[in-house]
Amino acid sequence: MTHPTDSILIVDFGSQVTQLIARRVREAGVYSEIAPFTTADAAFARMAPKGVILSGSPASVLTDGSPRIPQAILDSGVPILGICYGQQVLMHQLGGSVTLGESGEFGHAVIEVTDDCALFDGVWQLGESHTVWMSHGDKVTALAPGFRPVAVSPGSPIAVVADDTRKYYATQFHMEVAHTPDGAKLIANFARHVCGLSGDWTMAEFRAAKIAEIRQQVGTGRVICGLSGGVDSSVVAVLIHEAIGEQLTCVYVDHGLMRAGESEQVVTLFRNHYNIPLVHVDAEATFLAGLAGITDPEAKRKFIGGAFIDIFEAEAKKVGGADFLAQGTLYPDVIESVSFTGGPSVTIKSHHNVGGLPDRMNMQLVEPLRELFKDEVRALGVELGLPPAFVGRHPFPGPGLAIRIPGEVTKERCDILRKADAIYLEEIRKAGLYDTIWQAFAVLLPVRSVGVMGDGRTYDNVLALRAVTSTDGMTAEAFQFPGDFLPRVATRIVNEVKGINRVTYDYTSKPPGTIEWE
Ligand code: XMP
Repeated sequence: MTHPTDSILIVDFGSQVTQLIARRVREAGVYSEIAPFTTADAAFARMAPKGVILSGSPASVLTDGSPRIPQAILDSGVPILGICYGQQVLMHQLGGSVTLGESGEFGHAVIEVTDDCALFDGVWQLGESHTVWMSHGDKVTALAPGFRPVAVSPGSPIAVVADDTRKYYATQFHMEVAHTPDGAKLIANFARHVCGLSGDWTMAEFRAAKIAEIRQQVGTGRVICGLSGGVDSSVVAVLIHEAIGEQLTCVYVDHGLMRAGESEQVVTLFRNHYNIPLVHVDAEATFLAGLAGITDPEAKRKFIGGAFIDIFEAEAKKVGGADFLAQGTLYPDVIESVSFTGGPSVTIKSHHNVGGLPDRMNMQLVEPLRELFKDEVRALGVELGLPPAFVGRHPFPGPGLAIRIPGEVTKERCDILRKADAIYLEEIRKAGLYDTIWQAFAVLLPVRSVGVMGDGRTYDNVLALRAVTSTDGMTAEAFQFPGDFLPRVATRIVNEVKGINRVTYDYTSKPPGTIEWE
């Protein structure tokens, strides 16, 4: 994998928010990668980064077997920024001491800047007070040689430490979270001012580098790309097409479970606008027939995933002669999670849309988005000329509407849901709310309710509307619509969609709910 030489390595000690550190560094225009502490020395040797950031952790440095900074990093002389556990482990390994906190600090705290240092230059001045986000039990009680304290908080006399000679800085607070208002500026300061990086890592640069890399990997070979209709596979297809043109064939297995107008939009965009060779397989009948009688959510996913692979494989064989399979794998899928509990985490839902495909087809993978976060993929899509409204679409699950129809999926129920969902999304766009919502959709419930329309009694379906805000889909809050928005949408849906006579709104957050109903 190629990567810019001007980079920062983030050593992950298992914090929930390590990915946010990578986000903040990249927002500062500097390429960054995360490596678990167990393999950080190899990543350090491979990347030759110009700086290292140490993440937080649920562990305590006082516990036997807790994570450590690889010695090679400490011996290398590159600047280091430690955050929370990162601060504690840095002090611990360099000769300071950490004490088990009797009472920790959790949440907002105010710190006072007691000395200048390069990390603060141009951001915080001596004597100022600033709000930060703390979340720690243990704390540093004696500095390692060479360090001096530069900020204090009521619960941490050593809230920030600095060693300008070695360019080592460490903070007790979490600067990667939005609750620390100046956190992004401090991280940018570390990357540019302390490590001396230029901050010119842009999507245009990434695009050019990836195109060269794809050409080199593929040579004169042929690539097959499975389009799902979603943003990631679309961006992959356009990028690879730009690199190798007609050597790419896209296969769009249309399961008939897309939102209103979406399949047509994908086909038109790819065939007519980009002129990308596209096989459009209308497999709606196959999928609906296979879904008949299935009501269990995991069984639906399993069937859809399996049928998708079968159809894709058959179509790929017809195209023939492809050596490479393109996939829209993103960085969050690639980052190895660091676990202190041993076993793998519990599977809540299996998101295996194309899982198993590469093994079975015995093809080499082309995964040009492996280093990107979702919004960076969107930015790359816009850079490649995809319409902003297309790349800005809310996330949509691989199994499509099938998991938004609890109970049995039928053509009639898909059509009812599509109409209602389209009205809901149209109103959201009209109200200018689309981009502030992470995901909004309707769910057709397996419940009937009594209503009255005109002079008649109705006995029809109930629809649930859902809209959530989120930063990564891992946690979510129900979106609070302004004033009369929901009543207006409910009225439109009941009036315009035959088969629905009642509309409800889902206020559940995640956790304990999930975003989708199935
Ligand atoms: P949940 O419902 O688990 O959803 O809170 C988190 C995010 O994942 C999407 N999702 C899926 N995506 N295949 C997918 O590709 C799936 O089976 C699937 N199930 C949920 C969901 O839409 C949300 O963005």
